[in-house]
Amino acid sequence: GITRHYKFDIKLQNVTRLCHTKSIVTVNGQFPGPRIVAREGDHLLIKVVNHVQNNISIHWHGIRQIQTGWADGPAYVTQCPIQTSQSYVYNFTIVGQRGTLFWHAHISWLRATIYGPLIILPKRGVPYPFSKPYEEVPIIFGEWWNVDPESVISQALQTGGGPNVSDAYTINGFPGPLYNCSAKDTFKLKVKPGKTYLLRLINAALNDELFFSIANHILTVVEADAVYVKPFETNTLLITPGQTTNVVLKTKPHYPNATFLMTARPYVTGLGTFDNSTVAGILEYESPLHSAASIRNLPLFKPSLPPLNDTSFATNFTNKLRSLASAQFPANVPQKVDRHFFFTIGLGTRPCQQNQTCQGPNGTMFAASINNVSFVQSTTALLQAHFFGQSNGVYAPDFPITPIFPFNYTNNPPNNTMVSNGTKLVVLPFNTSVELVMQDTSILGAESHPLHLHGFNFFVVGQGFGNFDPNKDPSKFNLVDPIERNTVGVPSGGWVAIRFQADNPGVWFMHCHLEIHTSWGLKMAWVVLDGKLPNQKLLPPPADLPKC
Ligand code: C2O
Repeated sequence: GITRHYKFDIKLQNVTRLCHTKSIVTVNGQFPGPRIVAREGDHLLIKVVNHVQNNISIHWHGIRQIQTGWADGPAYVTQCPIQTSQSYVYNFTIVGQRGTLFWHAHISWLRATIYGPLIILPKRGVPYPFSKPYEEVPIIFGEWWNVDPESVISQALQTGGGPNVSDAYTINGFPGPLYNCSAKDTFKLKVKPGKTYLLRLINAALNDELFFSIANHILTVVEADAVYVKPFETNTLLITPGQTTNVVLKTKPHYPNATFLMTARPYVTGLGTFDNSTVAGILEYESPLHSAASIRNLPLFKPSLPPLNDTSFATNFTNKLRSLASAQFPANVPQKVDRHFFFTIGLGTRPCQQNQTCQGPNGTMFAASINNVSFVQSTTALLQAHFFGQSNGVYAPDFPITPIFPFNYTNNPPNNTMVSNGTKLVVLPFNTSVELVMQDTSILGAESHPLHLHGFNFFVVGQGFGNFDPNKDPSKFNLVDPIERNTVGVPSGGWVAIRFQADNPGVWFMHCHLEIHTSWGLKMAWVVLDGKLPNQKLLPPPADLPKC
């Protein structure tokens, strides 16, 4: 591979959407941020210079960061944030991965405006396992708030209530024609008849799983989270925050007398309020025979999307995702398990801090937890504490491997909804093979949670509804061609089982990629110890690693 240099200047930029102009934190003044394009095996050096008042940190979502945990990016986990007028060079190699990923800010809610595509092409001369597309197009979903998203989260955390919802969803930064004062801010995909297009779909939104469809067109899913899958056709996709999906769009053989909307709107299972609006972009066939004006006058077809709470669609869709599991791209599913973990995933409450009435349930504050532990962010970087043997007083290695007080997770939530607090981690010897069952709880209502693991891909070996049954369910696990990914939806009112090989030394964050749940504490981290060989050890920190 070659070395590629990028420079990210973090700076303010005035941006107008929905007739509201505001100053947002951006990379290089761009919204969404710049595209990173590299090949498998390449070495990336990305210099991030902070010109704003906010502390900043960038995460390369889905990149394995083999031995280079210092470049992973979550603030106070692998690094202290980059402070005003400081800089940091993210230095890593792309090992054994190709496909669509993305990068985003990993501190507070700055991801709302700081995100962009990270595209990894195969090594030179290595073809895709599907026919070469005529063109490749990133399609990145996000949200737009008319106010500053940083004020949305700080208000939610102060009052203990749910956050204000976004004012629009966006495709490549544009809300599109279904919103007021937005028609000119529409993403347009111009295509030719009889060609194939590879759409690289990325859900960078903070808080919403999304359904996506293009009117009168079939999409073939070929990759998820930068791993090839067995191709299948669908009209509609589900994509959660933190997930990426590549689809092949085959355009109509002849110029059609119509244009087509592509739309996305949320899949919602929780009880809170949400933005139930619809973002649209336009698929337009370019024809030399038609003037721009005549194209504008063509009839416009709209796709129909599943109902907002369509869990059966979600289940059917995720069940279709299978690893390609070919000779060239095998599915290396761990067949034996060294350590079993069972984590409950869900919401909860904590006492009101100001001794007054908070806006959470019954005057409490909303919280979220894993095995009832709501993660307390450290004031220093966990990875540094681990590497220098100074974890004492920073984190405890005693994260509960099963719930301390088991209950009926999906039927009878306990009356006591209070979470406990802690900065607790699980410590794993190098190369431990892990099976983790994540069980959604109905505390404050069942809800689907897209869980993201840093530093690894995992295999989704099983999923189901109700309470996981350790005596029956494992016999149905798929150990042949399960989907391999970095973010998986824990189904609303159900469970999901994953397996991964802990072959990457470092401290690896795991959290719900719904940002409000992360803010409420739905996160934890794994410490993977060094192995014996030199290539099994975490490298020393770079000299410019930011200080807290
Ligand atoms: Cu995409 Cu920890 O995040």
